[in-house]
Amino acid sequence: MNILLIGSGGREHALAWKIAQSPLLTKMYAAPGNPGIAEFAELVNPADIVKFAQDKNIDLVVVGPEAPLVNGLVDALEVAGIKAFGCKKDAAQIEGSKIFAKQLMKKYGIPTAKFEVFDNPDAAKNYIRKEGAPIVIKADGLAAGKGVIVAQDLDAALSAVDEMKNFGAAGSKIVVEEFMDGEEASILAFTDGETIIPMVAAQDHKRLNDGDSGVNTGGMGAYAPAPVVTEKVAALANEKILKPIIAALKAAGIIYRGCLYAGLMIVDGAPKVVEFNCRFGDPETQAVLPLLKSDLLEIMLSCANGDLSKQKINWSDGAAVCVVLASGGYPKAYKKNLPISGLDAAKKVIADSIERYKEKYS
Ligand code: AMP
Ligand code: GLY
Repeated sequence: MNILLIGSGGREHALAWKIAQSPLLTKMYAAPGNPGIAEFAELVNPADIVKFAQDKNIDLVVVGPEAPLVNGLVDALEVAGIKAFGCKKDAAQIEGSKIFAKQLMKKYGIPTAKFEVFDNPDAAKNYIRKEGAPIVIKADGLAAGKGVIVAQDLDAALSAVDEMKNFGAAGSKIVVEEFMDGEEASILAFTDGETIIPMVAAQDHKRLNDGDSGVNTGGMGAYAPAPVVTEKVAALANEKILKPIIAALKAAGIIYRGCLYAGLMIVDGAPKVVEFNCRFGDPETQAVLPLLKSDLLEIMLSCANGDLSKQKINWSDGAAVCVVLASGGYPKAYKKNLPISGLDAAKKVIADSIERYKEKYS
């Protein structure tokens, strides 16, 4: 079967690596991909993805990032009769609009922080003065991971409201929500809109430097499984969050197919939703997929075909970790497209340390 993978990050590299293990795969293309992905896929950059998929007889398009999902790529593929792993535009609102996600959770009693929605900055500030700090201010729309400000004091919270203007249309409406004090974890789940199957839970480390210090980033690394997601927490997440949100979407006429990402805060032993994303997490995917024993392509096809219930998904009982090496200056101004060299030497260092670990602990 012919696969077209959309995206160019470490997450897509992990997806390509895992898809390449499938006996179902004939040929993989990646648009635009990256030099790591080139080991598994032919890199292409078509102006028209739908036309490319038709021309190359693509059997499944796998969409990595949120922007094409929110912009309706999967809808356009469906019109052309091409299958995709990834949700349609209506379902992608779960990430594309924080207000949509919060209101859906409220309506169906899915545990999340208390919140109010504002389009008037003065009204938001009055509410913040009434509630006090710490408090969290979020732009409604997509803001490249920068639209959330966790304000520790009142002054920071009030100026955060003014900063929302910087996000343009994404910040014209804002959510002000209760600060949740706990430990975070990410649960990614496969779904066909009816059945939802969680993957091994991961923990993402967002602070720039070692020891959880420095500014927030898009994620400096992740590991899986995350011990904070105990069996009890996992069961609660499944029954109180994952199944209900898929049912809530369905009740709203939305069939969610693809990967649903639940960002959770574990507060007093129970999970609450920080956010939903409409895609695999980055860098969580790089730590989760190495633990997947089953055929990823087969699972993705089941999500697209609506028969996920027939899948039995197996996980290894090991652990995996992903460490992000970023260009100097990240996340502020930094150089892009620098070549990465020394990978063979790095692979050897990792293989040697795994051997030493095995000798020591076996
Ligand atoms: P989000 O983009 O919604 O995931 O928010 C980015 C980060 O802000 C999260 O990973 C949390 O660390 C933090 N955050 C968001 N909402 C809250 C909240 N209500 N309470 C505490 N921290 C939060
Ligand atoms: N690791 C955070 C995200 O994928 O949104």
